[in-house]
Formats: sequence, structure tokens, C-alpha cells
Amino acid sequence: MIGATSGALTGVSPPILAVGLHKGESVPQELEGTAATNVLSNGDFSGKEGETALIYTPDGMATPRLLLVGLGERASFTLEKLRRASATIAKRARKLKLDEAAFVLPIPEGAGVREAAEAAAEGGALGLYRFDRYKTNAESRDLETFTLISDDKIAAATGAETGVKLAAATLLARDLANEPSNAATPEYLAERACEIAERYSMEATILDRAGIEAGGMVGLATVGRSARNEPRFIVLEHRKGAADAAPVVLVGKAVTFDSGGISIKPSAGMDDMKYDMSGGAAVLGAMEAVGALDLPLNVVALVPATENLPGGDAFKPGDVLTLHSGKTVEIVTTDAEGRLILADTLSYARRYEPEAAIDCATLTGACHVALGDHASGLMGNDDALIAEVRAASEASGERAWPLPLFEEYTEQTKGDTADLKNSGGRYGGALTAGAFLKEFADYPWAHLDIAGTAYNGKAKNPYTPKGASGVPARLLVEFLRARAEDREGAI
Ligand code: BES
Ligand code: MN
Ligand code: ZN
Repeated sequence: MIGATSGALTGVSPPILAVGLHKGESVPQELEGTAATNVLSNGDFSGKEGETALIYTPDGMATPRLLLVGLGERASFTLEKLRRASATIAKRARKLKLDEAAFVLPIPEGAGVREAAEAAAEGGALGLYRFDRYKTNAESRDLETFTLISDDKIAAATGAETGVKLAAATLLARDLANEPSNAATPEYLAERACEIAERYSMEATILDRAGIEAGGMVGLATVGRSARNEPRFIVLEHRKGAADAAPVVLVGKAVTFDSGGISIKPSAGMDDMKYDMSGGAAVLGAMEAVGALDLPLNVVALVPATENLPGGDAFKPGDVLTLHSGKTVEIVTTDAEGRLILADTLSYARRYEPEAAIDCATLTGACHVALGDHASGLMGNDDALIAEVRAASEASGERAWPLPLFEEYTEQTKGDTADLKNSGGRYGGALTAGAFLKEFADYPWAHLDIAGTAYNGKAKNPYTPKGASGVPARLLVEFLRARAEDREGAI
């Protein structure tokens, strides 16, 4: 439970009370003369970002534990830094085996109480995430109550409530993506999508192999052909906007395991390819929040889900496919499977006449090489939409950075025997993949390559642990929320 209260710092008595301090600043007036002052004057604590100092039974205070948390320079303190500080506190309290913690809500310059509370709640909820359902002796204890202390208790409570809903998007995305591929099959993802639909009265449509074939989605059917776990095409529709308003379409690549197929990947690190459904996981996570926030918009989620495996019935290099749009593609490598299933999905999306579509996909190792794991690659065919996605990425802390789709990249994906080929070669791999997808979107479209950001080999920041990050679930929700606010005034 993450909530808010107000009260004098000396009077509140949670088992641990966290107070943020900026670099170079002294303790809040109420704490002057307590042990907190000594910690500072001894030079043991400077307020540097991420720094902590724990003080037991501080004199004059009702709480048995005072946790000082460094917030860095005041001028460069942001909502993102607040998320991180909040996660640090929540995790520290859990480590101390406490049920409850309180945090005196700091407000970054230019932000309001509601926004700050939102970020603090997000950080707390995300920081406490762990994926331990397969550990037979998992530590079951968790922090139960996390309270934000603010003079404006109402605004803080409202913000906290929203923050928890936003965090839920990421938590679901992480859970789905962390599941191994023997559990998270296309069918399993479809079931989880149906649960979301039921919870928030959305409409769910699931196409099985026969439905995918009948619908002409040859790319998806072909990639999924040799797998025992059959493909699914998942459609979720949230219709809470005007009846005649065009929807925003979210598309997420969900290759539940990418072995590379006949163009098989090297075995070292292949286990990470269970994360190749992270785009689909993020889209389903975003739909969870869209439902919980009841956004007054029309949103359609499309998730092509399949395994990519070798086998006697597998597709082969050199094969030519006629995709859903009617365009033909020559298979250079069966490991460039993501763009095939996305191409089908993007042309399927035309029927919705979307006002905008955003796809997200662990599409290319090249994008990871280009941007490292600090930003998703952002491409598209509409500068205004790209700017909007960038704004959502900044607001959510899920960074995305623009990459070009010059005409030359499109040239690089022209086929020899067919219209297109599914690999443009080694150089500019993220861009040629983006250019390939561009051929199938005839509406405002943005593409997020999350190959470098969807999962991490080690914890990235206090609220992003090792494993699935859930990126870009909150970015997508933020994008939708901004669109809804534009239309209806603040939510
Ligand atoms: N799922 C991979 C991309 C990927 C690689 C994601 C590493 C995360 C980490 C994708 O299907 C793939 O195999 N892409 C190829 C494309 C190439 C063969 C044109 C790649 O990036 O090597
Ligand atoms: Mn692949
Ligand atoms: Zn893949």
C-alpha cells in the first residue's frame, strides 16, 4: 500500500522515516540539533545522489530510525532522480525487514506535489519488484506500507494512486518478460491479454494458427510454422474515446523464444532470447495501466506472438514470402524474424485507420551497439509523432533517442528476387530494420527498437533490477496520457 499523510517530522512514528537532503544543504529545520546534524558536520554524508545514512533513535523524534538519503544538487533534481531515491528507500526498509516506511516527499523544481508523489510511488513500487516465483524458498516478506509525507496530503495521495497504476504497467511487463519461454508461450500471452480485457471491459480477439493463416498474415504464420507452441495474434481494444475517434495502435513484438531458426544463433547467451517478447510484454503492461487509469481514448493493442525455431517444417534462407500487405520479401536470414511479423501487424493495423501507431520490438543487436543500454532507438515517418514519443520518454524516464530513416536505408533493403529482403547487411542494422517496417505503415508511425533496453545483465538503477526492465511500458502510457490530457484537460 502506497499512500500519503501529513504531519511534523518529529511527531510521525513510522519504523523508518526517510528524509532527502540535497548536496551542500543542511538538515531541515525540524531536524536541527538531532543526530542528523552530526552526521553532516562529521562529513559522513554529503547529499550525493544515492548516498544514505541510517540513524537509530534520533533524539527528539518519535521514529526509531531516521534514514538520510542523498538527492544530489537541488538544481539538477528531477522526477527521475526522485524515482530512484524512492526505490532506494523502499528497498532499504525491506532489507531491514520492516513492514512500513515513510518518506518526506521532496519536490523537484518546476514540479507539483501530485507529480512528485506519482514519481515517488512509481519508484517505490518498481524498486520492490522481484521475480522469484520459481525460487522454492523465496523471501516472502515485503514492505507493506510506504507513506509519502507532504503538506498537501490530498495531492500527494492522488499522485501516489496514479503512480501505483503507472508502475503496474511496468511490473506486468517485467513479469511477462521474465517468464521463461516454456511458460510464456504465445498461448499464455493470449490468456494474460484476455485477463486484462476482462478486468477493464476491453474487447479481446485472439487468432490462432488457422486464423492467422486465414487473415493472410504470412510472415507470422511462416515464422511460427515449425514451433510446437503455436503462434497467436492478440488484439485488445480499449474503446473509451469518442465513438468516431481514430484509435492509437500499439504494436509489440512477442517472439517468445528466438533461436534464430535455421539461421541459428550461437548458443552462448541464447537463453536471453526468452526476452524477445519484451515489446509485446510492454504493450500488454501498458494496456493494464490504460485500463486502470480508464483513459478516455480509443487504444488498440496488437501483439503478434510466436516462437522462432528450426525444424523440418521451418522456413529457410532464400525463401520468398508474400506478406499481409501483398509485398514480397526474400528471406536472407531466418533470424530477422521480428520485422516479418511486425510488417504483417503494421499492415493489419490499417483497418483501424490509426491516428498514430507505435511499435516496440527487441529488433536488432545493432541498436544495442548504437545506443548502448541507455536509450531505445526511435524511428518513424512523422516528426511530430517522434517529438511526442520523445517527450513521453523524458517524462517516464524510459529514454528513447531518434535515429534517421534516410531513403538510402530503404534502398539497402530492396530485394534481388523480391520487393524487399529481410536483412540490409551488417552496417546500419537498426536503421535498415526501421526502413523495412516503414514500408508497411501508411499512417503516422513510430518505432522503438528496445533490443538494448528491454533487459539488463545487471541492475541498472535503484528501480531497474537485473532481468526484464519493462521498458517501454510506462513510456507508452505516458504518451497516451498526454494525448488524453490534450483532449480532455488534466486527468
Ligand atoms: N531478437 C533479435 C534481436 C536482438 C539481438 C535482441 C540481441 C536483443 C539482443 C532479432 O530477431 C535478430 O536476431 N536480429 C538480427 C537481425 C539481423 C540478422 C539482420 C540481429 O540483430 O542480429
Ligand atoms: Mn532473430
Ligand atoms: Zn528476434
